[in-house]
Amino acid sequence: LETSLHDPYRPQYHFTPQRQWMNDPNGMVYFEGEYHLFYQYHPYGTTWGPMHWGHAVSPDMVHWEHLPVALEPDEHGAIFSGSAVVDWRDTTGFFGGKPGLVAIFTHHDTVPGSDRPRERQSLAYSTDRGRTWHKYAGNPVLADEKHHDYRDPKVFWHEASGRWVMVLATGQTVSFYTSPDLKAWSLSGTFGEKEGSHDGVWECPDLFELPIEGSGGRETRWVLFVSIGNNPAFPEGSRTQYFTGTFDGRQFVNDNPPETVLWLDCGRDNYAGVSWSDIPQEDGRRIYIGWMSNWQYAQVTPTKEWRSAMTLPRALSLRSVDGRLQMIQRPVEELRRLRGAASVWRDIALGDDAQPWIGQEAACCELIAEFELQDAREAGLRLRTSASDAQEQEVVVGYDAASQQLFVDRTRAGEASFHPLFAGRHAAPLRQDAHHRVTMHIWLDRSSVEVFAGDGSAAITDLIYPADSDALRIGLYAAGGQAKLISLAVYPLAPGL
Ligand code: FRU
Repeated sequence: LETSLHDPYRPQYHFTPQRQWMNDPNGMVYFEGEYHLFYQYHPYGTTWGPMHWGHAVSPDMVHWEHLPVALEPDEHGAIFSGSAVVDWRDTTGFFGGKPGLVAIFTHHDTVPGSDRPRERQSLAYSTDRGRTWHKYAGNPVLADEKHHDYRDPKVFWHEASGRWVMVLATGQTVSFYTSPDLKAWSLSGTFGEKEGSHDGVWECPDLFELPIEGSGGRETRWVLFVSIGNNPAFPEGSRTQYFTGTFDGRQFVNDNPPETVLWLDCGRDNYAGVSWSDIPQEDGRRIYIGWMSNWQYAQVTPTKEWRSAMTLPRALSLRSVDGRLQMIQRPVEELRRLRGAASVWRDIALGDDAQPWIGQEAACCELIAEFELQDAREAGLRLRTSASDAQEQEVVVGYDAASQQLFVDRTRAGEASFHPLFAGRHAAPLRQDAHHRVTMHIWLDRSSVEVFAGDGSAAITDLIYPADSDALRIGLYAAGGQAKLISLAVYPLAPGL
């Protein structure tokens, strides 16, 4: 903590490794009162290297305790991404009839005598609430010579068919496997050859059933997440798409025409995310967390002892918007525990000549702002703004009425020279309501901003590196006409780590 206080970019309430490199979240599982978070970890450097699983636990997904590395590379290779489940019925026989934790992950090495990559799926288990892990002696449990991109198993218990289901990234598709015991797997289906985006290699899938909002919990749909690897041909870099449809325990069927592409997040920094397993039924939430970075520049971001953070944990649901089911995301309510007393402003006229600063400064806060656009072209907030009126530094979060888009503009947000595609403006489609109003829910941390609007239907997650660490002003603005701030609440947030 001592060093973190002097590190201007160190997140205060987003999960970050204590030191060294992190990428994908792995093995998220809830067991005996603890949320486990594992992650792709390189303990010997601040760039990607031989992968381990780092580990942390939390009672609430807000306050995290760092634990020792859970899985280290072995004779089968490095430990790539994967999932963890509670084996409630001891289907594996690892637990003497009691429930226990099983991790299902990719072993990555090379075909013997060559430098061709090889990826196979393996198991590890823990009989002490995840504190120590044993690799299964029969590893690997699933291999396929045909694919060299064959990784990131996400496993869940499928109640209706009474067996385990694995969704696995297999090149430019995902494949579904089933198993009675997590050890013997058989292929039941493949999806995606001609569906969605193929801008990059398919990685880190997830598959789960979600309630449809407004149906009183009666209607549900299955959701398939697929992360799309970085490809230099596309400026967006790595990002995550989703499909909605049905799943019968063997095969996924898409609701939408194959060419439909749905993105989970319209910012640049939300990748490889998957959801928690085994959250109790009484709770009923499906909670997601993503890696808050982008393979395009992840290894050159300007932090020193550590690299990368996770997004906020978000509860997911579906809502029908314009006749299509859309992903809804809301940061979990547990985050309210970090809130200090709110400062509130109301009814402030905004226009080209009225661009007030509010009487509060912050680098870590939650802001809820409602604007009425009137005839303004755009309106919004300026965050992390320099004290001088020249405003060399600012992060703009706004709404553009002509294009009907929510946006984050980090063009002048501070350090950006580490990669040519870092600076920029990122937008998400969003309608104003019938009263020309837009409500933005913004989470600002020392090196990130997450913006939600449309009651969770629009999300933008972006890293920022405000080099001027004293630039903490918060401003309101409207451009090209008049707008009104209906209300703004700013909650200072206490450190969560
Ligand atoms: C996604 C990914 C996964 C892989 C891991 C390796 O970011 O490429 O497909 O398992 O990272 O660290």
